[in-house]
Parts: sequence; structure tokens; C-alpha cells
Amino acid sequence: MRKTGTTITRRGFGAILAAGLMATSLAACGNSDTGSDAGDGKDDGQIVLGFSQVGAESGWRTANTNSIKESAEKAGIKLQFDDAQQKQENQIKAIRNFIQQKVDVIAFSPVVESGWDTVLKEAKDAKIPVILTDRAVDSADKSLYKTFIGSDFVKEGRLAGEWLVEQKKSASGPVNIVELQGTTGSAPANDRKKGFAEAIAANPNLKVVASQSGDFTRAGGKQVMEQFLKANPKIDVLFAHNDDMGLGALEAITAAGKVPGKDITIITIDAVKDGMQALADGKFNFIAECSPLLGDQLMDLVKKVKAGEEVPARVETQETTFTQEQAKAALPTRKY
Ligand code: AHR
Repeated sequence: MRKTGTTITRRGFGAILAAGLMATSLAACGNSDTGSDAGDGKDDGQIVLGFSQVGAESGWRTANTNSIKESAEKAGIKLQFDDAQQKQENQIKAIRNFIQQKVDVIAFSPVVESGWDTVLKEAKDAKIPVILTDRAVDSADKSLYKTFIGSDFVKEGRLAGEWLVEQKKSASGPVNIVELQGTTGSAPANDRKKGFAEAIAANPNLKVVASQSGDFTRAGGKQVMEQFLKANPKIDVLFAHNDDMGLGALEAITAAGKVPGKDITIITIDAVKDGMQALADGKFNFIAECSPLLGDQLMDLVKKVKAGEEVPARVETQETTFTQEQAKAALPTRKY
């Protein structure tokens, strides 16, 4: 716990006051999971990490949350966990609560890229280091956070597009693609769209005929795919920014009397178990991996920034891609 005031104040009346303040601020935040005695004003030498998660929108997110909770426990770090339910205002509230509680380090996965400068400046003024995990922010002032840990989303989109270019290299006519984007304004939606568009530009036959957000959820993927199918008589390819939207879209495609993976080529991103199963079953055709297992590396970074050590500006996750055959081979040992 960050040191404030004198020991007498902290261990006596101050501790009661701090506990009261914390209870008030957590109540305002709604979805916090405070762990055993994290943030209770005791100075037992353990690092306290405030983590604001995007939500629980996908299988990827659930695996990411589990990874962070397990790694914090393993590393002996007290975790203050908050679920923002995919709302930026909830994340800003959670970060302000963490500042008020004087946690040692704040980490968060920003739901969207813009609009963070004010609250990040508040954390900086309070001398609490911030680590971005999974998703980036577009702040021009890089001193507002210590480091970023996560994936290269542009690369993921590019890998998806390059695979398609190769598959369709002998197509003689137009190949109509529909795109299910992730949450509007989020780094993965912006970057995957960009990487994919850059890659498919290599073949002018490849055309994105419709592109809309399904908010990274199965329900969103299903609903938007239904609209795509109604509005577009010829759909050759679906590019979904994550497995969950692709899985939702499967229902819409089947209900429309089409065979997923055959009538419509399906490319997704993530490679969570359900997505890998769909790929192994021939319903998906290709997945670019995005690893949610960021917990261990995050806890290392937390310890380093707390100790005032230098950390790299960006720590990127190692990832791969999967064809149907590769998914069959990988599934039995897939961790998430
Ligand atoms: O930010 C990572 C993305 O967020 C994952 O690809 C998606 O499944 C999640 O919701």
C-alpha cells in the first residue's frame, strides 16, 4: 500500500477513516471485487493493484480476467478488480476510486481509445503509475502511462487479410466480404479493420460490401449478420473481429439456409476454445490468435513500476494463426 501520513495516523483513527472512505467509493463503483483485505488501509507491504476490466463481453475477456486474478494471487499482489460493463464512464469512476484509495499501481484495459487524458493526468498527479493492458489509448502525452502490454491488433487484421488474399488468388470475379467490427472506437476494432483492409488491397476483386459493429458479443454478431444476409444477396466471406461475433453469426447463417465454412468463408480473431472448436468442425475457416493470457507478464510489470525500475514502452504478446487442421491438433491442449 502506498504510504500516506504517519504510522500512528494510519494504524489508528486514520485506518478507520480510510476504510470508511473506501467503502463509500466502492459502493459508487458497483462492480468491484475487492479480494480479501485489499485496500483496507493496512500497511502489510503487499503491492495493491487496481485493475479496471472492460467487461465480460466475450470468451476472450473471461479468460483474460481469470488470467489476471490467478496471476495476482500467485505473485502475492492484492487485486482490486472492477468490471466496467463495457462503459467508459464506469472505467473512469473505477480509476478515480483507485486514486482515492491510493493503490500502488493502476492497470486497465480501455474500452475505447479516446477520452482518457483527464483521468490519466489525475493518476499521474497522485503519483500512481498506470499500465495499459490489452487495449491502447490515443493520448498524445505518453508520460501519462508507464507501459502497454498486449497484442498487435493491426497485425492480426493483416494476417486474416493475407490468408484470404492467398485463398482467393485465382478468383476471376468479385469476392463480397462482410465485416463484423468490434466495439466502435476500441483499439482492436480500429486496428483489425485497418490491417485487414491494407492486406486485401492486394487483390481488387476482394471488396468489403458491408461493415458494422457487433460490439464483440455473440448476440451482436448474430443480429448484425442477420441484417447483412437480408441486405446482401451474395456474401462470400465473413471477417469477424472476434470468435464470439463469428459464433453468433453462425446461427444467422444456418437459419438463412447457408452452410458456414462452405457457402460463406469465415475468418475470425482470438482462438478461444469455442472458436477453435468451430474451426476444427469446419464451420470457421481461419483464425488469427489474440492471447488473453496477460496476467503473469502484467504482474511482473506491476512489480517493476512499483519498484521504480525502467520498463519497455510496449510489451507485445507472441501469437500465431490457425487453419482447420491446425485447430484440430491444438484443441486438446488449448488452455482457454
Ligand atoms: O481487446 C481484445 C478483444 O476484446 C478480443 O479480441 C475480444 O474478444 C474482446 O472482447
